[in-house]
Amino acid sequence: MKKIKIALLGCGTVGGATYKILQMNAEQIAQKTGVILEISKILVRDKERPYAVPESLLTTNYQEILDTRDIEIVVECLGGIEPASSFMLQALKAGKHVVTANKAAVAANYETLVSTSAQYHVMLRFEASVAGGIPVLDALQAPLNSNDIEEVSGIVNGTTNYILTQMIEQGQAYEEALKMAQEKGFAEADPTADVEGIDAANKLSILIALAFGEIVPIEKIATIGISKLSKEDIAFASHLGYKIKLLASAQKSKTSLQASVQPTLVPKDHMLAAVANEFNALFIHGNAVGDLLFYGKGAGGLPTASAVAGDIIEIANAIDKNAAFDSYVNKISASHLTYLGE
Ligand code: HSE
Repeated sequence: MKKIKIALLGCGTVGGATYKILQMNAEQIAQKTGVILEISKILVRDKERPYAVPESLLTTNYQEILDTRDIEIVVECLGGIEPASSFMLQALKAGKHVVTANKAAVAANYETLVSTSAQYHVMLRFEASVAGGIPVLDALQAPLNSNDIEEVSGIVNGTTNYILTQMIEQGQAYEEALKMAQEKGFAEADPTADVEGIDAANKLSILIALAFGEIVPIEKIATIGISKLSKEDIAFASHLGYKIKLLASAQKSKTSLQASVQPTLVPKDHMLAAVANEFNALFIHGNAVGDLLFYGKGAGGLPTASAVAGDIIEIANAIDKNAAFDSYVNKISASHLTYLGE
């Protein structure tokens, strides 16, 4: 059976959970795919910190990973725009396939990452970057290719949904709920990105690229977070029959594209009102398929790593079949994108 070697960049919540899934489900993966996936190096900042992985795998030297020819897949789980983006570009240029869960890096450098992967004939996959374990980016590609997508909207940040749920259902204070979301591994390293709506805007930018073929930098997305919401706002909304949810929303018509992230009053009997805690839900409207709703865990180690591992397996299958990688590069070519920035 072919063995495919992988390097993990980062061994935090998502990196650690990816290692765990590939160990826990190794037999099933090998049976289903006919390949053995081996994590052979893990890049960390500090080797002295305790990690739930064998110490022999740890390295602090990225060049060592780039120089190891038989590492075919680099899995970026560092988070943040840099050095993650540069590391991914270096890996692609070294002929390695890249998987990432990093919405900030993908949203900021979408075009460069996609075109570099095409130029170097390697695959770039980032299913885990939006809505954690929900396979929504994949769905927006081949399964929905025949549609003109008109709307993508929903709850795409688990931390804020968790905070709002705790405040609405349990009457918890904002700070206490945020602390719990951090402890559960939902929040970003700096939770400002979550609570100010930036994380949701990054995800919306990626959704827009795949749904509409347009590059919309997050600075162009009207974004309001939840940090200024008070207990009184929540109680007042409830009194009027609504729950407050942080909705990310993009609609495209023939003449316009509108995108926003903002706290929104959702009627209590609406399906989105029932989406609680770290769960995410996404509506997609296509002109052929009509309305679709995707629901599942949008944050947390194992759900997010489930999508990372799925991407690794897709690449491993393609390597095993000696695929022509050009046709796989996210199934979307950079040349089809329109840039809507300055
Ligand atoms: N901080 C993110 C969230 C993690 O809460 O949704 C998953 O992208």
